[in-house]
Amino acid sequence: FTAELDATDIEKGTYPHFMLKEIDEQPFVIRKIIQEYKNENDEIKLDLDIRQAMKNCDRIYIIAAGTSYHAGLLGKQFIEKLANIPVEVHVASEFSYNMPLLSEKPLFLFISQSGETADSRSVLVQIKELGHPALTLTNVPGSTLSREANYTMHLHAGPEIAVASTKAYTAQMAVLAILAVDTARAKGLELEFDPMQELGIAANAMEALTDQKEELEELAREYLPTTRNCFFIGRSVDHYVGLEGSLKLKEISYIQAEGFAGGELKHGTIALIEDGTPVIALATQENVNYSIRGNVQEVEARGANSLIISMKGLDKEGDAFVIPYVHHLLTPLVSVIPLQLISYYAALHRDCDVDKPRNLAKSVTVE
Ligand code: G6P
Repeated sequence: FTAELDATDIEKGTYPHFMLKEIDEQPFVIRKIIQEYKNENDEIKLDLDIRQAMKNCDRIYIIAAGTSYHAGLLGKQFIEKLANIPVEVHVASEFSYNMPLLSEKPLFLFISQSGETADSRSVLVQIKELGHPALTLTNVPGSTLSREANYTMHLHAGPEIAVASTKAYTAQMAVLAILAVDTARAKGLELEFDPMQELGIAANAMEALTDQKEELEELAREYLPTTRNCFFIGRSVDHYVGLEGSLKLKEISYIQAEGFAGGELKHGTIALIEDGTPVIALATQENVNYSIRGNVQEVEARGANSLIISMKGLDKEGDAFVIPYVHHLLTPLVSVIPLQLISYYAALHRDCDVDKPRNLAKSVTVE
């Protein structure tokens, strides 16, 4: 636990489950991150060694597992688009025996809520032997991955108790966005994106969504009542949020869920669509809005029961849920909230043990 811990952090209070409490805490976590990573002149506050390491590397290798891996996929977008550094994202358990060819000046970025995931640690041991530098993003600063890496960035999400990760995921994305912008500035790149301002807007949008629980509970009841499976589709960053949405749903409700890129539908998965199959589609990106809506038509023509989550300004009549407008890079922080809440209610309606799903552990310390 961290020094920031107070008793209310590890108690459910009036909440029936830690997961619901942690979903609700997300806007406050983002505001806390803004405070923690800002100095008195409103500039990004970051360890100078981290800034230097980011500036000096020629490629970043993100290593993570589960939900943290999904945050890594979005981290790649931030770092490549804002800081212009190539990024590879690897599942920790695969990396050890499938190490890619490394660049001349690699920097390893470990993303881990707990800081204890054994698969990630084994990669850290391996790359340290090769003499490569490592930065860990974690919610637990004293953790193994934090102690053994050269540098650490703290997620400031407070203890996450529910097995299904929620607030750590959005915190990871916020910290990655700040890191990407800091690196871009250190490299002298011109940016129009003000991360603190945009994160503040995202936090307000997140807060508005946590007030729409009844609506989301109703959607879970309507679309996922007795279904055995569910698909998530999206393009670009929406695809990655769909992967996280499907992981959340399967983890806690045991509904077989799969997330995939909208364009991949026709290459196989569409064969699984039957009358009434639920398909949750994300439409928050202007450049792919037309294409993802085409995919929705394709699945609907085969009988799917589609639920579209779109963003204000890109929404169309019939969309089931519309999130407020936020910067296109930060939509994942906001669009994941309805997915988290729909998963929560789907699990609740099935009498599942939301906070402690079967067969899962919060922190996996075996390889
Ligand atoms: C476990 C948890 C997941 C988590 C993953 C990675 O499987 O159940 O929720 O995403 O480990 O954990 P980490 O602590 O490294 O982020």
